[in-house]
Amino acid sequence: MKDREALLSAARAARENSHAPHSQFRVGAAVRSASGRVFGGCNIESASYGLGACAERVAVLKAISEGERSLDAIAVVTDAEMPTPPCGACRQILWEFCGDIEVVLATMKGEIEVHRLSALFPRPFASSRR
Ligand code: THU
Repeated sequence: MKDREALLSAARAARENSHAPHSQFRVGAAVRSASGRVFGGCNIESASYGLGACAERVAVLKAISEGERSLDAIAVVTDAEMPTPPCGACRQILWEFCGDIEVVLATMKGEIEVHRLSALFPRPFASSRR
């Protein structure tokens, strides 16, 4: 799908900015809003390791801070052998801010997987009592 390729391309571009001197594991992500805007994010590590940020959360939080509230797809790119799904913390943030978003995972070699977040993150925590 053309839109999917554009989102992957934005994730690959964001990955170029990855700051990963500790893990050497470079991650790029890009989210697309319902209005068609795309926000990229990369992982950013800190000398105080636990303060680092994942690419997915950087992308989502950038979109939210720009006023977007409806996000419908995220692409994540790494150079691992297999496509890399988001960590647990990112799945929680994705669920809270994007709901059952499409999650496109890709390797730099072009292997692609497409999931719904609900498949990767079943029975999520939500503060609502509904
Ligand atoms: N990382 C991400 O950017 N996204 C994930 O979902 C998992 C891990 C980053 C964090 C750290 O900079 C590096 O990958 C190694 O864990």
